[in-house]
Order: sequence, then C-alpha cells, then structure tokens
Amino acid sequence: ASEAEEKDVVIIGGGVAGYVAAIKAGQEGLKVACIEKRTALGGTCLNVGCIPSKSLLNNSHLYHQIVHDSKSRGIDVGEVKLNVANLMKAKETSVAGLTKGIEYLFKKNNVEWIKGTGTFADEHTLNVELTEGGERSVRAKNIIIATGSEVSPFPGLTIDEKKVVSSTGAIALTEVPKKMLVIGGGIIGLEMGSVWSRLGAEVTVVEFLGQIGGPGMDSEIAKATQRILQKQGIKFKLNTKVLSGDVSDSSISLKVEANKGGKEESLDADVVLSAIGRRPYTQGLGLDKIGLETDKSGRIIIDQEYRTKIPHIRVIGDCTFGPMLAHKAEEEGVAAIEYITKGYGHVNYGVIPSVMYTHPEVAWVGQNEEELKKAGVKYKVGSFPYSANSRAKTNQDSDGMVKFLSDAQTDRILGVHIIGPAAGESIAEAALAMEYGASSEDVARTCHAHPTLAEAVKEAAMAAYSKPIHM
Ligand code: FAD
Ligand code: NAI
Repeated sequence: ASEAEEKDVVIIGGGVAGYVAAIKAGQEGLKVACIEKRTALGGTCLNVGCIPSKSLLNNSHLYHQIVHDSKSRGIDVGEVKLNVANLMKAKETSVAGLTKGIEYLFKKNNVEWIKGTGTFADEHTLNVELTEGGERSVRAKNIIIATGSEVSPFPGLTIDEKKVVSSTGAIALTEVPKKMLVIGGGIIGLEMGSVWSRLGAEVTVVEFLGQIGGPGMDSEIAKATQRILQKQGIKFKLNTKVLSGDVSDSSISLKVEANKGGKEESLDADVVLSAIGRRPYTQGLGLDKIGLETDKSGRIIIDQEYRTKIPHIRVIGDCTFGPMLAHKAEEEGVAAIEYITKGYGHVNYGVIPSVMYTHPEVAWVGQNEEELKKAGVKYKVGSFPYSANSRAKTNQDSDGMVKFLSDAQTDRILGVHIIGPAAGESIAEAALAMEYGASSEDVARTCHAHPTLAEAVKEAAMAAYSKPIHM
C-alpha cells in the first residue's frame, strides 16, 4: 500500500447518497474522494434500480398503447413486433448516459473517484482494494458511509437471476416469460409485474398482507390501484404467504397458503420475481474494527446529524434509517456535507414523496388516512376524480383521483394521495405546498393553467376546503 493521503472527506459508495455528497463537497471546496466498487457511478438507482426500471416502464407502456390503444385515437398501425433485445439496449443507453454524466460531474467538481472496495483500517483510514488490482489507503478528516442496500433474500429460494429473479434479473430478462409469479405486491413487484404483463406475460402477484403497494400507501388508493391493475390483466393473491418453491429445469412451482383458513395450493411459472423488500448493505466495511454497530434490521445507528458514535463518521442513504428512496438519499447527501461545512443541514422527513411508476402512477406525500386515524387527528377529505378533469378526459387517460387530507380545524395539508396520469409530477406541487405549511385553501386559490392534469390537484384542494367546480 502506498503512503496514506489525507482528504477533507472520503465517501464510501457512489450511489445517489454518496455521489451527491461528493459533488456537494467538491462545490464547497473540500478535498474529496468517493470510493465505489462498481464499474459505473450511480449505485443501485442508476445501474439496476430507478433508471433502468423506468426505461422499461416507459417503453413497455408505449408498446402496450400502440397495440391496445391506437385505433380509438385514429391511428391505424400495421404489424407491431416487440424486440426485447432492443428494448434492453434502449435501457442500457439511458443507464450509460446518466452514469457517465455523474463521472463528468465528478471531474467538474474535483471529486476523485477511487475505483475499488473500501474497508476501515482505523477511524480515519480506509484501505481500498482497487478494481484494477493492488491496494491503496486514504486518510480522511471526515468519512461518510453510503453503501446502500441489497435485495432481501427469500428463505429457501435461490436467486439465479434467470428463472428466480430479483429486480436485477427482472430488468434484464431476454424474453417475455409465459407465466410470471411475483412474491411481494410492493413497489418493485407492481412496477416490474406491470412491465412484463404489458409485454405479454401472465402475471400473478402473491402478497402476504391484505393490501398491495407496500408501506405508506393509503388504503383507498391501494384498492383503486388494485382494481386498475386487475383490469390491465395482473392477477392478485392477497393475504397469502409463499411456503416454498420447487425449481426444475423447465418450470417453477410455488407452494402458497392463505393466511386465514390455511388453504394450500401450488402455482406454476417459468419466472419467479422475489420482491419482498431490501436490507441495508454494510458487508466487508469492517464496522466491527472501529466498534460501529447496526440495529437488528442492519441499519447503522446514527444521530440527527447523521453522526455515528464516532462523530466524524456519518451515514446516509439506504444503509441507515428512513425510506429507501433515491431522493431521500440525495437530500441526505447535501445535508451531511452542510453539517460538516456549516454545522447545520435540513431534511424534512415529513415531506418525502413516494411514487410508484405504474400506469397510472401512484404518488403520495405526508400521512395517509390510516395513520391519521391511528394518531387520533381530526381531518377533512377532499377528492377529485380524473374522469372530471378535462385534460385527462381529452387524453383518454382518466382513471384515478387526487385526495387531499387536511386538518379539520386549521385546514393545513396533512397528506396528498394521487392515483392518476403523471401523479409523480403532480405530487411535487403537494410537497412544495406542505413544505411551506400551506392549507388546502392556499392550493385551491392558486391559479392553475387550463387544460392541465394539475387542475385535478387544485380541485381536490377545493373539495377539501369548500367545493370543487367541475363535480
Ligand atoms: P446505493 O444506490 O445502493 O449505492 C451504494 C453504492 O455503494 C453501490 O454502488 C455499491 O457498489 C457501493 N458500495 C457498497 N459498499 C462499498 C464498499 N465497501 N466500497 C466501495 N463501494 C461500496 N428509488 C426512488 O426514489 N425512485 C425509484 O424509482 C426507485 N426505483 C427503484 C427500482 C429498483 C428496481 C430498486 C432496486 C430500487 C429503486 N429505488 C428507487 C431505490 C433507490 O435505488 C435507492 O433508494 C437508492 O439507490 C439509494 O441510494 P444509496 O446511495 O443509499 O445506495
Ligand atoms: P416493499 O417493502 O415495497 O414491498 C414488499 C412487499 O412484499 C410488501 O408488501 C410485503 O408485505 C410483501 N412481502 C414480504 N414478505 C412476503 C412474503 N413472504 N410473501 C408475500 N409477500 C411478502 O419492497 P420492494 O418492492 O422489494 O422494494 C424495496 C424498496 O425499493 C422499496 O421499499 C423502495 O424503498 C425501493 N423502490 C422504490 C421504487 C420507487 O420509488 N418507485 C421502485 C422500486 C423500489
């Protein structure tokens, strides 16, 4: 190993949390390095998560629309053929463009990318096993751990990423499976289930709970989502647990059991997607060498300023507390550097939006009805369906609704839940309103352009505060 160099900050992990912190540190004039072992920057999100899945979601939606939804729009198409290899190429082009973009931003902001795997040697030193071979050590005044998360394994099922896949295999299948079984009706299950269902697979989702959507989704919205996805051809088995799997060369059979009544049945498929959640990834970091601990879920323990009990070592992103979302990781990347340079930072954990990129999209921010009831908060509900929104109607894309929840006394917005076209874009307005402590009247009295989908947000706010016009 060469003589250790000293940096102001070294970040372990070049995912969204890590790369954002690195760029911010560079912008603040700190001497910064980021250790990343993958051959491309951007972590899970850019390489095998947000970006490739959205490429497939977008293009499978286009394909599905062309096949099923052209005639009524006055477009007669000839023979339409799916080319899975090119679909994957388009995905790879998007990924490559964006990961290279991060590399460019590193150069622009004087961030050194150390290519390799980092391990703690002591509280200020990291040893890096270099990707190219050999070793190097780097010393730092401050260290940020941003090592992310990995797929939670399903006990008894070995993921081979071909027949039994995680999300990583599900974004890289070489042909459309005839039958796909999805274990877990959370965000990954529904997004990837949608992709392959649109491309022609018979998809069945097995979910342990009585509701789809994973943690945080409002029950009314989850039910509406299920109805719409069922209409699109996805089958659901709720309140059902998977007991075991039998994998042979030609097919896979899963034994499942209803939670109540214990009825057992076998389900066959040629591909099984296991999507039962993700867990923090800290393997090989050598946390024990410096006495840092994880909780029982594997999250590294930190205080409100992201500090471990060794104050110059901070932790951000998926490997610590909070929702495992790229934009949350990004906010923490900025805040962690601000804590180092300024002594204060800001992330409002009450206003982190969630988006599921199915069609229609599902998006929410703040609390849902079940959470408000549980907390004993008195609230008002204002809903507005997209079937009464002129733009959605004109676009022949009017499934879904916007729902405002606001405080019964003060009218302050407590949560906004949307299922509908471009819900992921519309939720930004709700997040901004909540960040400013707005009431539903504030949104209701804000002039929205016509005809836009955003008018549905305004009218739902009107419904919460008074009455909508178009219903
Ligand atoms: P990661 O992105 O996991 O990055 C950590 C990086 O650290 C990795 O690149 C890893 O190689 C590196 N690393 C780990 N240990 C070491 C070490 N010792 N030395 C060097 N490098 C190391 N979130 C959204 O908000 N929107 C979405 O649409 C979305 N879609 C998703 C789709 C899928 C299929 C998946 C799986 C996830 C999705 N997510 C989405 C979640 C999102 O990807 C994560 O929340 C985000 O990537 C977390 O960023 P991170 O930087 O904390 O961790
Ligand atoms: P998830 O937590 O969203 O959903 C997992 C689902 O599996 C839950 O509904 C759970 O009840 C169910 N489940 C657990 N064990 C089961 C079992 N044995 N049998 C049947 N069902 C079972 O996790 P998912 O979908 O794997 O995604 C992981 C994380 O990745 C998400 O929580 C999110 O943080 C992130 N992500 C975000 C996306 C986005 O923002 N659009 C897209 C994809 C992933």
